[in-house]
Amino acid sequence: MKLISAPLANLSHAGLRMLIHSFEDPDEYFSEMIHAPSLLANSPFESWYLRANPVPEKMVWQLTSPKAEALVQAIPMVLQHGGIGIDLNMGCSAPPIVRSGAGFAWMLKPLETTAAAVRAAKAAVEQYAAETGRRFRLSVKMRLGATEDYAFLLRFCTMLINEGVELITLHPRLQRQSYARPALHKYTAVLAQELPIPVYGNGDIDSVQALTAAAERYSCAGWMVGRAAVRMPWIFKLLRRALSGTTDACVPHSTEQAEEEVINVEQTALLFLQFLKTEQPPEFYKTRAQRFFQFYCDNLSFAHYCKTQLLRESEPEAMERILRDYFEQVPTDRFIRAEELIPRHSPS
Ligand SMILES: Cc1cc2nc3c(=O)[nH]c(=O)nc-3n(C[C@H](O)[C@H](O)[C@H](O)COP(=O)(O)O)c2cc1C
Repeated sequence: MKLISAPLANLSHAGLRMLIHSFEDPDEYFSEMIHAPSLLANSPFESWYLRANPVPEKMVWQLTSPKAEALVQAIPMVLQHGGIGIDLNMGCSAPPIVRSGAGFAWMLKPLETTAAAVRAAKAAVEQYAAETGRRFRLSVKMRLGATEDYAFLLRFCTMLINEGVELITLHPRLQRQSYARPALHKYTAVLAQELPIPVYGNGDIDSVQALTAAAERYSCAGWMVGRAAVRMPWIFKLLRRALSGTTDACVPHSTEQAEEEVINVEQTALLFLQFLKTEQPPEFYKTRAQRFFQFYCDNLSFAHYCKTQLLRESEPEAMERILRDYFEQVPTDRFIRAEELIPRHSPS
């Protein structure tokens, strides 16, 4: 069973991947969504989105666009940087994105409109593959739909497969469903069983227990982890260990092994700041650090206090000073043992 790092706008950049890599890589790293029209407009920061560090061969480039034409032109620009292939974002339900005709809007358009876009994207992927003698995968990440309607979901997925999509990631929530409701993974299991291509499940995998419970109940080709990989960049190491070395891939290792794992929460935070400086432009330091620490601070006893302090700063050096002061004051927060690796604060 595969483990996959999810696309997270402003979060799943090369800096976060380097941090995850310092513990253990997942099988695939999805990039944050790359807006195809901005890439074509040669916006000054676009090259930062195309960094394939730290493991280029595990990269999946996620593109978002309101129009097929921009996707088609962006595909060779992105695939130059290697990786497993292209993922089309059909799941982002943020209202400005949907209003623009991108993300989840592709699930709302007439089926033939979306089919034509996927066909064009597939042709662009195949053409680039033929020119370079390499193979690239085309995948789609999507939600359940606007309403709970399995017939529609199946029709939509069948259309994707007919147009050459080779993998689907399902985040089984409706367009307007918040994260407060659990992901409906019964749909992940049914699709994985009915479709002739691999299906990854995504949503609410935030611990070994959550993974093993989901994997036991809902069989699929892989599990994608989003927010929990920001909160716990070491999570793939724990999940992989839980899945490996057992005949039944779902049974975790013994707790003695889990107890050996000690995470240095302070060093990990400082390492993130280092990677932020090498992997992102200075203009992004503040927003990317804010996004990261919103999740990461949930590991701390005084999460709100530390977060508030960090969010005021724009320079990594100032953030480093705040973190060092915090751990001086609360040294018991420096280390977490594996069996305690459930965040102290439940996710927002
Ligand atoms: C801050 C944030 C940014 C996200 N950005 C993207 C994105 O760029 N592309 C995408 O397909 N999904 C995006 N998502 C959705 C996640 O990939 C994932 O589907 C969702 O968080 C559920 O998985 P999780 O429970 O493991 O976090 C984003 C989610 C969050 C919280």
